[in-house]
Amino acid sequence: MAAKKQAIFLDAVVLESCNLKCSYCRDGLIYKKEEVEQTVARVKKAIEIGAIADYDIFKISGYGEVTLLDNLGEISDLAKDKRLLVISNGTRLPQGSLEKILAHPDPALCISLDGHTEEMNSYRELSQSQIDAVVKTLKDVQGKGIPIEINSVITGKNIGQFPQFLEFLLTQLPRVMVFPFPVRPFPFMHSEDYSVSPAQLSAFEKKVIGGYEKYGQVLPPRAYLMREVEFIKHGSRSFVCTVPSFVIGINGNMDVLGCPCGSPEKLGNLNNTPLVDISGKLLSSKKGRWKECKNCFNHYEVISMYVDGKITGEEISRVPSISKPAILEHLRQIKGEYKHG
Ligand SMILES: C[S@@+](CC[C@H](N)C(=O)[O-])C[C@H]1O[C@@H](n2cnc3c(N)ncnc32)[C@H](O)[C@@H]1O
Ligand code: SF4
Ligand code: SF4
Repeated sequence: MAAKKQAIFLDAVVLESCNLKCSYCRDGLIYKKEEVEQTVARVKKAIEIGAIADYDIFKISGYGEVTLLDNLGEISDLAKDKRLLVISNGTRLPQGSLEKILAHPDPALCISLDGHTEEMNSYRELSQSQIDAVVKTLKDVQGKGIPIEINSVITGKNIGQFPQFLEFLLTQLPRVMVFPFPVRPFPFMHSEDYSVSPAQLSAFEKKVIGGYEKYGQVLPPRAYLMREVEFIKHGSRSFVCTVPSFVIGINGNMDVLGCPCGSPEKLGNLNNTPLVDISGKLLSSKKGRWKECKNCFNHYEVISMYVDGKITGEEISRVPSISKPAILEHLRQIKGEYKHG
């Protein structure tokens, strides 16, 4: 039996090899190349059998780099009248992928960059010329009015220079929104290698959150930043996550996932029918639904907080990936139907 639900995001988890080797990233492939090539087939099927009752954004992401996929154009075509959101490290965009993405009528980018200097990107092992090239690409894309978000993993190597990064963005890329988020500890890693000291965290609180008047234009809502600081301080989440109420995930095995961010719960498999409508039936619990939720904090948090009433409609309308009246209206409906656990 498979699940059918209303969602803002259809998150197709495309896991592949990568051209970079960021040290905090999950190592080893989860899906083989052939399975990734099936992405088109599985999303097509999901759409055909109506697994997704309604959704606004087709998001391609995963632990890998989608710009390496030969069939990126075909995948983009599947997004049809939906917004296409591509998560990428940005380094290979000029080699043909950007053209394919921009051929879509409503594209948006989410680029991972831990700062504007080599030192800030030391865990991503990016050279200054690679960083400068990514910034140049983003400037061109920004000039076309395409929504851009930047994901920055916060570590001891970049937290200190974050205010300088914000100043850089204000002058070079003033229409982006940068989401700092903490390192998720994977079993293979020594998470303490990436840890942030209490002094560094308190300086971040003082300079970045305290400097919100100055930097707010390129930052997510203040409440998101405060929650992130709280999360890093305690090392785990103690607040509701509403992500399963607005995301549907599909993995390489055709499983439909309540949440694509590591939940073990499968709502069904697209190889099996009939479908069950689960829209509006996913409740939250105080510390998240699964044990995997304990150390999970990512860029979906900002939307999760809106659904949970912690961020206002005005604040959420600034977030580039969802900044479109129809998407915001759908999100308002989901928020209205959300059942607080
Ligand atoms: C896994 S990547 C995949 C997409 C693409 N290759 C990229 O780098 O944007 C998705 C996001 O997860 C981040 N990431 C990787 N390992 C992480 C970890 N251990 N904790 C938190 N975020 C991580 C990356 O920096 C990136 O922003
Ligand atoms: S974070 Fe992205 S760019 Fe870095 S190794 Fe992982 S998949 Fe590749
Ligand atoms: S805390 Fe993370 S894994 Fe848990 S439901 Fe939220 S986004 Fe998914």
